[in-house]
Amino acid sequence: MQVAISILSISDDMKKIKEIDSLHPDYIHLDVMDGIFVENKIDFNHLTLTNPLDVHLMVQNVKKYVDIYAKMHPSYITFHLEAKKDTWSIIQYIKSKGIKAGIALNPQTPIERVKPYLKDIDMVLIMSVEPGKGGQTFIIEMKQKIEMLKKWKKDKNFTYIIEVDGGIHTDTAYLCKDADMLVVGSFITKHKNSKKALVSIREKIEKHV
Ligand code: DX5
Ligand code: ZN
Repeated sequence: MQVAISILSISDDMKKIKEIDSLHPDYIHLDVMDGIFVENKIDFNHLTLTNPLDVHLMVQNVKKYVDIYAKMHPSYITFHLEAKKDTWSIIQYIKSKGIKAGIALNPQTPIERVKPYLKDIDMVLIMSVEPGKGGQTFIIEMKQKIEMLKKWKKDKNFTYIIEVDGGIHTDTAYLCKDADMLVVGSFITKHKNSKKALVSIREKIEKHV
């Protein structure tokens, strides 16, 4: 299981961002918001980071932001199914840039809605909090969605990875044991010893997988 650290909650603290980057998580998770799809607005395209990037677009005009963030050469770009754009063409558009494509689902969106795309995507991101801000509580019902995705993956030999995002810390990580990648934000970035926090999350994961 891999860990991506979300720097959303420390977006205005360059010193802390550099410190997190130096911890070498598997990925740095960039939460991009346009002030339309969600209330907040945030951009990270000015940053220079040393770790692989996992870009999570919480935006309405997906292609515009794919163009902006493709320039950072991320490993993944994920967009929301709820953005209601031409989903197929966006998947192809991301892949045409040599970037892996993911689809994110809000907590209230039924998991069945992602089914038609599973064969063609590299990641499904299950939101375990409402999109828009860090530091929220994990919605426990999301566990069933993760299990369902794992079952479909196994049954049909799909290759997508399952990512879970929001409210993950040492007491909630076990709810995601069927996932492939966890996004952890404030638990690590707001911890007084971020290095220790990352180690403790990794230990919890190993115990439960
Ligand atoms: C929510 C974001 C998440 C979140 C993670 O809109 O997509 O990445 O910030 O942060 P924590 O771990 O604080 O919930
Ligand atoms: Zn995110």
